[in-house]
Amino acid sequence: MVYKTSLWTGVLWTFLVVTARMAESQGRHSCARSDCISLQRCPQLAELLRAPTRDNIKKLQDATCFVSGQDPRVCCPPEPPKPKVSLLPRRCGEGLAGNRILGGEETPLGAYPWMAVFGYKEIGFDNIEYLCAGSVINDRYILTAAHCVEPQVLAVKRLEVIGLGDWDLKTTVDCQVTESGHRLCSPPSQNFTYEEIIVHPQYNTRTTYSDDIALIRLSRKVDLSGFWVHPVCLPPQNLNVRQVMHVPEAIVAGWGATENGTVSDRLLHVVLPVVDNQQCNTTYKGRTIAEQICIGGVAGQDSCKGDSGGPLVIRGPDGPPYLQIGIVSYGPTNCGLKSVPGVYTDISKYRDWIEENLRP
Ligand SMILES: *[C@@H]1O[C@H](CO)[C@@H](O)[C@H](O)[C@H]1NC(C)=O
Ligand SMILES: *[C@@H]1O[C@H](CO)[C@@H](O)[C@H](O)[C@H]1NC(C)=O
Ligand SMILES: *[C@@H]1O[C@H](CO)[C@@H](O)[C@H](O)[C@H]1NC(C)=O
Repeated sequence: MVYKTSLWTGVLWTFLVVTARMAESQGRHSCARSDCISLQRCPQLAELLRAPTRDNIKKLQDATCFVSGQDPRVCCPPEPPKPKVSLLPRRCGEGLAGNRILGGEETPLGAYPWMAVFGYKEIGFDNIEYLCAGSVINDRYILTAAHCVEPQVLAVKRLEVIGLGDWDLKTTVDCQVTESGHRLCSPPSQNFTYEEIIVHPQYNTRTTYSDDIALIRLSRKVDLSGFWVHPVCLPPQNLNVRQVMHVPEAIVAGWGATENGTVSDRLLHVVLPVVDNQQCNTTYKGRTIAEQICIGGVAGQDSCKGDSGGPLVIRGPDGPPYLQIGIVSYGPTNCGLKSVPGVYTDISKYRDWIEENLRP
C-alpha cells in the first residue's frame, strides 16, 4: 500500500500524539494473537489513517503495542480472507446427445463426456484392469470415490492411466451408428497420470465407507475445447437434491467396473429410482449417514451398471445440463439382490470441501 507522504506524515502526527500518552501510561503490551509490528507494515490498520475519525483512532490506540519515535507498532490482525474465486467452471453438464436417451443400455456416444475411467496395473502384472471411474469437474481435477484411490489400494494396484472421452475401452477410435443411420466417431481418449490425490480425511471413519470422496489432480491440463471431454456440474453446498428433481430418478453410467474388472467394453447407463433415506438406513441396519444417498434396489432395475467412483447424475427438466449428485460408493455385492439399493456419497454435502481443495 502506497501513501502520499504528506498524508502519511500528517495523519501519523495526530496518531502519535494520541498514542504517545497511552503508551506512556500503559507501557508496551504484548499482542494476543499476532506479532507487534510496525504500523506501516500492517495495511489493514494503516488504512484507518486515511479516515482518522474518533472511532478509527480508538481502534488504532487499542491495537498499539509499542511506540518508539515515529514508528508506532501495532498488533496487526490477520488479513480477512479474500473472497475465493471458484475454480469450478460455469459451463458444465452438456452431453452431446441432448434428450436422446436410447431404449437400450448402451449410451449414445458423447452423452456423458465427463466420464473418466481408471486403469490399474497390479504389481508384477502387465495388463491393465479398469476397476473404477470418476468425473471431470474442471480442466485439472477428477472427482471419485476415496475407496478407489486410498493409499492401501494404490500400494497393491498402481493407478496407471486415467482415460477421458473414452466410450469403448477396446477400441482407440470409438464409433457408433446413430438413430438416423449415421456413423459417428469420437477422437482417441485423452490419457492422464496423476500429480496428487486428495482423499477425504474422514473417509471410512464415521461409518462403513463414510466420506467416500477424493479428488485427483491430473499431471497436466485437460483439453476441454471439444465436446468429447466436458465437465459435469456440481450442486451448491447443502442443496436439497430431492427438491430440485423433477422426477425422483437419477442416472448412473459406467462400464460396470468393480474390483473384478468390467462388465462391458462400452459405456452403459441405467435410470434408477431414488430411495427413501430412512428405508435405506433400515436395509443397511442403521449404518448410513446423512452424507449418503440411496438409489436403486427396485425389482427389474439393475443397480450394478455403475462403476465404483463414477458419477450419479440428474438432468434438468429439458435435458442437459447434468448435475452430479452422487458418487458410486458401495452396494449389494450380489447384483441379483434387487431389493437392496446402492449407497452413494451425497455430493451436495461436499461442495465446500471440493472447492477448498482445488488449486489453479
Ligand atoms: C490410453 O490408454 C489406454 C490404456 O493404457 C490405451 O489402450 C490407449 O491406447 C491410450 N490411448 C491413447 C490415445 O494414448
Ligand atoms: C468378485 O469376485 C469374487 C470372487 O469370485 C466374488 O466373491 C465377489 O463377490 C466379486 N465382487 C463383485 C463386486 O462382483
Ligand atoms: C440411521 O440409523 C442410525 C441408527 O438409528 C442413526 O444413528 C443414523 O443417523 C441414521 N442415518 C440416517 C441417514 O438417518
